[in-house]
Amino acid sequence: MYKLLKMTAWAFAMLAVSSCQLDTQSHIASPDGNVSVNVFLLENGQAAYTVAYKGEAVLDTSALGFEFLDAPELKEGLEILQIRSRSFSEQWEMPWGEQRLVDNTFNELTVDLAEKDNLKRTFKLVFRVYDDGLGFRFEFPEQENMTEVLITEENTYFNLTDDHLVWWTPGDWDIYEHLYSTTRFSEIDALSKRDHPNLAQTYIPVNAVNTPVTMRTDDGLHLSFHEAALIDYAGITLEIDKENLQMRNNLVGTEREEYKVIQRTPFVTPWRTLQIAENAGQLIESNLIVNLNEPNKLGDVSWLKPAKYMGIWWEMHLGKSTWDYTGTQDMSTWIGAEPHGNHGATTENAMYYIDFCAEHGIDALLIEGWYTGWENWIGTDAREGIFDFVTPYPDFDLDKVNAYAKQKGVRLVMHHETSSAVTTYEQQLDTAYALMSHYGYDMVKTGYVGTIIPQGEYHHGQWMVNHYMRVIQKAAEHKVMVNAHEPIMATGLRRTYPNDATREGLRGQEFNAWATDGGNPPEHLPIVAFTRMLAGPIDYTPGIFNIKLEPYRDENQVNTTLAQQLALYVVIYGPMQMVADLPVYYKGHPAFQFIKDVGVDWEQSRVLNGEVGEYVTIAREERETGNWFLGSITNEEAREITIRTDFLDPAATYKVILYADADDAHWDDNPTAYKIQELDVDNTSEITLRLASGGGAAISFLKQ
Ligand code: NOJ
Ligand code: CA
Repeated sequence: MYKLLKMTAWAFAMLAVSSCQLDTQSHIASPDGNVSVNVFLLENGQAAYTVAYKGEAVLDTSALGFEFLDAPELKEGLEILQIRSRSFSEQWEMPWGEQRLVDNTFNELTVDLAEKDNLKRTFKLVFRVYDDGLGFRFEFPEQENMTEVLITEENTYFNLTDDHLVWWTPGDWDIYEHLYSTTRFSEIDALSKRDHPNLAQTYIPVNAVNTPVTMRTDDGLHLSFHEAALIDYAGITLEIDKENLQMRNNLVGTEREEYKVIQRTPFVTPWRTLQIAENAGQLIESNLIVNLNEPNKLGDVSWLKPAKYMGIWWEMHLGKSTWDYTGTQDMSTWIGAEPHGNHGATTENAMYYIDFCAEHGIDALLIEGWYTGWENWIGTDAREGIFDFVTPYPDFDLDKVNAYAKQKGVRLVMHHETSSAVTTYEQQLDTAYALMSHYGYDMVKTGYVGTIIPQGEYHHGQWMVNHYMRVIQKAAEHKVMVNAHEPIMATGLRRTYPNDATREGLRGQEFNAWATDGGNPPEHLPIVAFTRMLAGPIDYTPGIFNIKLEPYRDENQVNTTLAQQLALYVVIYGPMQMVADLPVYYKGHPAFQFIKDVGVDWEQSRVLNGEVGEYVTIAREERETGNWFLGSITNEEAREITIRTDFLDPAATYKVILYADADDAHWDDNPTAYKIQELDVDNTSEITLRLASGGGAAISFLKQ
């Protein structure tokens, strides 16, 4: 009944628009005609829009407007000055990515609006409509009555047509490291997630969700809301109005100012995006977010080299060793303890890992905890000036480790944990990056654990958005790829700044080591693939073979099978893929061969099947070699999945190796039971994969 009413409202809106508002409405459709948008003025002169897919309403009349500090809101009393449209099509090349060539074809509508009276302020509303969804943004030209602009609210609405099923995380201004909830829209309750035992910071002011947020209609249409090209603006959460099935942009704010965004005309807002797909897999294949970003601004980026990397890292999360030199830091409590001489980043340990990388063809090694300051990095307000990123602990010989890595052909990944003393980091940037250039580092992992200093700022506010950008630009000057933890969410800026490589921005593998709530459940990654992954590459840190984490963390475990850990190298995309476990668990293990073989940079990717929160299968062709790799993962439900191998080159022959769950495998009862099988396959074959509960399968198709 409710839906019927909604549909009638939609039909009425259409009618109203076409019969009596001809001069104040305009229409644009995607190149294939399926996605269509109406832009029009409401009776009070407020701008609004609707979206439909194949003629069915996807968004009902949704109003637009801004509130400012020291200026009247920009809302009613508008007139349309001009309407233009154009079509655009190009193909561009990703320097690294899920695919090499990207099609960017859209129809664009630009509506020039102005206030009829009062301040006569003006702006353009630009819609780009693609076959896989749409983006729209506000462009504010230079104008007399709008110079400095202090935005307190961006009242961009999204009015849903029904009570959809939603995969959501709470709208947190500080961190994205939450588990997903799956509920009807009308049951979203973000505030109940506010106090989390394992998060060093979390700030959830209203009932809102983070983006990307993905939904499924009862008719099976998939919708995902996010943003693109977030530059010099605050990030968003989407505030939930359960009764009216309505969402509104809630910009991330700051306690230091009464506004949320400061800008000067001319400026543009980020794109507000909606991806639309008939099946879940198409969401993953969508390039909408990157397409809405500007082309590469860095010029020659042949220095960007994707990598598989190991780390002196997991051993700290397991509590086997520590970041600091004189005490210990336990990630599960964040509380320091007495010295015990168990420092992880020693010269000897680094050389041991370097040897292992060299022997097994792993490109790079991350070393955390090599510089001084880790004794006081967290849980204190005196975090400023603690890290300088250039002074090694006495047991770490930076020269020697670098020389040894070079000699062995292993790249090193720099680590900059800022502990969110961001001003300190900004002061250290020049020296820190100069040191990296001196030794030839081309990758850095940054981190922002804790509340932001300057106090009052949040991780996802405008000030931090600008900070993350300054780091990307500084890194680009030094030809360095950035992998940010506790980051701002990706919005496709890797197209413009291709060294903005990857990030965390989700509940990563580390939670399995120390979370007191049981770690990431088996459904986590089958949700992540259709939500967080739509924003961009992920540093999830797969590849844990010692699933039960014994003897280090008896209370914890990884909640997948070993075979699923392999599949993640293909399913969860990132240009820096970690080989996360300790060398001892890989040594002599037959399944390690898959990790050694698997690519990290792709010519093309195909999502073969999937349902949000249930399962997903992706096949990717490696650049240059033409090898294919396939990963399939499932939630707690065991299932059989049949795939066709028609993506293979019909003219080639392949050595095909399947790494699968053993018949009696189970994520909890028997997670490390696997089998390896050579298959006789060409491009006309079908393969049936048997995925255990919490399991997965990985296949390498190695061109002969
Ligand atoms: C949190 C990061 O996500 C993790 O990867 C890192 O090891 C710690 N912070 C310490 O920097
Ligand atoms: Ca983290």
